[in-house]
Amino acid sequence: MMYQVYSTETMVVEKKPAAKKMFIYALVLLTVVLGIGIGIAIGRLAICSHEKRELKPDGVLLPGISEALIKDGDPTIGDDLIQAIKSENIAEYLRNLTNEPHLAGTSADKRQAEELRDFWLHVGLDHVTITPYKVLLSYPNNTEPNFVQLLDNNQTILYNSPLNETIIRPEENKTDVVPPFNAYSAPGDEYVRITLVLFIVIYIHL
Ligand SMILES: *[C@@H]1O[C@H](CO)[C@@H](O)[C@H](O)[C@H]1NC(C)=O
Ligand SMILES: *[C@@H]1O[C@H](CO)[C@@H](O)[C@H](O)[C@H]1NC(C)=O
Ligand SMILES: *[C@@H]1O[C@H](CO)[C@@H](O)[C@H](O)[C@H]1NC(C)=O
Ligand SMILES: *[C@@H]1O[C@H](CO)[C@@H](O)[C@H](O)[C@H]1NC(C)=O
Ligand SMILES: *[C@@H]1O[C@H](CO)[C@@H](O)[C@H](O)[C@H]1NC(C)=O
Repeated sequence: MMYQVYSTETMVVEKKPAAKKMFIYALVLLTVVLGIGIGIAIGRLAICSHEKRELKPDGVLLPGISEALIKDGDPTIGDDLIQAIKSENIAEYLRNLTNEPHLAGTSADKRQAEELRDFWLHVGLDHVTITPYKVLLSYPNNTEPNFVQLLDNNQTILYNSPLNETIIRPEENKTDVVPPFNAYSAPGDEYVRITLVLFIVIYIHL
């Protein structure tokens, strides 16, 4: 299928209502921004004058906001949390979570959800639920993978997108890694003519 690029006249006619709409959106946005700005300015001026003396150089300082509102009830809790966060732990969890391909809606994905639930229960959460939902996703067909081609006027292929992603590290070499695919469209073939780039045709196989 060939897609015709709109002529300039059509574009101009179509732009008029859109421009009007854009102007109204811009006006509404400006009003909202001005309103918030004035609100903050009044708030600052009203609170600042009484409480400037209370601000101490240590701890969190938010000029104009009462210190009582922002200070920790128990400062040791914050310290404990910060101490418990270790980059090695984050790396280990991320490695665990991304170790196996787990495309949404597959049994591997469900297995990972169950592992996560068990993990949260194991670390002490009282209640963890998994909420099932319909995954509206199309899946690649390994025998007929998606690809994008760049064709010239004579249908000669100038470029073909790779069918599989390159394996950069050995741990990426897994059997159920899906090939690159367009997840949000129905299967089919699409031709798009790029008029500005010397009549090159892009062929998309989905
Ligand atoms: C990830 O962690 C869960 C539970 O902590 C464990 O059951 C699972 O085997 C781990 N997966 C990998 C790939 O290490
Ligand atoms: C994958 O493509 C082949 C060839 O067109 C087709 O026979 C098969 O039914 C497709 N598989 C799926 C799951 O759509
Ligand atoms: C297409 O083919 C014709 C005739 O075979 C040739 O003259 C022309 O140069 C080709 N065009 C391109 C872009 O390769
Ligand atoms: C791409 O990967 C799939 C699944 O691992 C494999 O069956 C297929 O042969 C590979 N295709 C290419 C072109 O490497
Ligand atoms: C991936 O693993 C297969 C079998 O385990 C091996 O034959 C292949 O050479 C490996 N590919 C890469 C790029 O490491």
